[in-house]
Parts: sequence; structure tokens; C-alpha cells
Amino acid sequence: MNQRTSEASDSAASWTRYWQSGFQDTCFFADRAFAVDQLWQDLFSELDSSARIVDLATGNGAVALKAAIFARDHNRAFAISGVDYATIAPAGPTSTDAELVASVEFVGDTDIANLPFHSSSVDCLTSQYGFEYARGDLALAEAVRVLVTDGRALFLMHAEGGAVHEASAARLRRAQSLLQKGHLMMQLDDLAKVLKSGSKSRVYKTQQRVEAKVAAAQRKHAEIPKDDLVWQISQESREILAAIPQVAGADIAARIAHIRAEVTAYVHRLHAMLKASRSARAMDELCDKAQSLGCGTATYTPFMVDEQQVGWSFSARKT
Ligand SMILES: C[S@@+](CC[C@H](N)C(=O)[O-])C[C@H]1O[C@@H](n2cnc3c(N)ncnc32)[C@H](O)[C@@H]1O
Repeated sequence: MNQRTSEASDSAASWTRYWQSGFQDTCFFADRAFAVDQLWQDLFSELDSSARIVDLATGNGAVALKAAIFARDHNRAFAISGVDYATIAPAGPTSTDAELVASVEFVGDTDIANLPFHSSSVDCLTSQYGFEYARGDLALAEAVRVLVTDGRALFLMHAEGGAVHEASAARLRRAQSLLQKGHLMMQLDDLAKVLKSGSKSRVYKTQQRVEAKVAAAQRKHAEIPKDDLVWQISQESREILAAIPQVAGADIAARIAHIRAEVTAYVHRLHAMLKASRSARAMDELCDKAQSLGCGTATYTPFMVDEQQVGWSFSARKT
């Protein structure tokens, strides 16, 4: 494993939590998911049959697995790897895809700023909402180092002010409101403490405060997507309250500790996402740097879904 700063370790841990829960990708905004199939299909169809493809910051392998599906369906012999610094858990879009998953070399616990590949050994680099999270200059230099001459890089990157960015900023504000002094998370922590104390009257009073906070959160956020963490935590809090008469205090406290860890990791990921989002000016700088590192062409365009910008598509070719 590469040496990491503690910030990078926290960040990787927050993603490990996400991928170990079985998520397949992060392509959604507000309350809807979107597919990025065409971008990747068009790229894969341009590659030689035996192309070596590396998907950077692969997560649970969303793009790497699309490449594997393309190879299977179009009779290509791609050699595909996916790299991520989280401890990933790729499982394929359906549980019957074991063979597909096995056809990809997944390399977890590895920073893309320090790739385990020889120089000039990769024909195509992909990244879907991943490359921009890494330490920019180092990751770009690594990307160019491993590409063969004439090798392609195509990255879908978060766009500052775009629909995904805006939806994530709203999700972050809501999640942070859970963590404020006196709000739901703190009341849940109190509940865990008083359950250990064994005092029935204190448990009862704290239960009532949790109930009030849950009701307030659900009233305030009645319109939010039901997959939003705030909504899920509110629902889970209700289940916890209902379970108190039957379940041991220590088990309830463990569930509350789990919720706290979930919220902390979620806030961490959203912060990282907002920080990773690029303005048009930052994309100009990325293109300039790519050219100075040896890419003859480096360009970007807004990537749109239903007339909403959900990112930048950055494309470069090493010369
Ligand atoms: C938004 S997710 C996208 C994952 C995947 N590409 C997808 O489309 O589902 C961002 C990913 O970047 C990874 N990541 C962030 N910084 C990284 C780094 N320096 N090296 C490797 N992976 C990194 C995270 O662990 C996370 O899996």
C-alpha cells in the first residue's frame, strides 16, 4: 500500500464504506440516476482489439466493467484494470457477473498519483468522476507517464456549478444540519448514553427529544429525494425508537454509532466531491498542463444530460 497522509486515509476510508455497501457508481443528481454509456461505448469502439485500458479511481468498477461488457459483446481482447485507493468490492451489475468481474484486474488501496504500471504501457485511460479527486499535478504526470505514444485519456469530471455539484452541495447542507449542536445526531448520541445508564425516565425524555427532531427533520425536508441520507437517518431513528422496548441498550448504542460513522463518511465524501469539482478556468489549466507534459491534444467540453451539465468531458492524446 502507498504511504498516505491522514486526510487521504480518512478519504479512502469514507469511500471504502461506500463501495463495501455495494454501490455501483455515483452517477446521480437530485433524485435521479443517469447513464454515461454512450461516451464510453464510443471510446471503446475506437480502440484496437487488444488495447490495454486502465480505469482511474474506478470505485466498484463502473467503467472498467462497461469496458469488459463491450469486449465480451464485440469480441475484443481488451486487457482491463481498475485502480482505486479505497478497498473496493466490485461485484458486477448483477450477481451473475462473476466471470465479467474476474476479467478485470482490480487494484484497490492504490493512489492514482502512483500507478503500479510501467511507463508507456497503457493504450487508454478512463475515469468517471474520479481523476479530479487525486492530487492534480501528480496524477496527471502519472497518467501521461503510463500512456503509450498516441494513447488516449478520456475523463468525465465534476463541473463546478453543474447539476451534480449543486445537488451534492444541497445534500451536504442537509447532512450538516443533522450534525449541528442539539440536532438529531446529538440527540441520538445522548440516547445511546442514557440507555447505558439504565435510567428509564432519562431514556423516556431523550426518546421524546429524538422523536421531535425526527419529526422536525422530516417536515423540513419533506420534498427531498428519499435516498437522501437525512431521510434515511430519520427513518432509521424511528426504527430505533420502536425497537427500544425489545432490544438491548448496547445493541441500540451500536446502531447509533453506526449511523454516526455513516453520516461522517457521507459528509467527508461530499466535501471531497465539491472540492474536486472544476471550473472552466481549472479545465483550461488542466489542458495546458497536459500539453506541457506531452499531450499533443488536450481539450474539454461540457457533458450534458437532458440539457443539464453533469460534468466535463476531458480528452487528451499523448504524442
Ligand atoms: C465519485 S467516486 C467515482 C468512482 C467510479 N469511477 C464510478 O464512476 O463509480 C470517486 C472515487 O475516486 C477514488 N479516489 C479519490 N482519490 C483517489 C486517489 N488519489 N487515488 C485513487 N482513487 C481515488 C475514491 O476512492 C472513489 O472511489
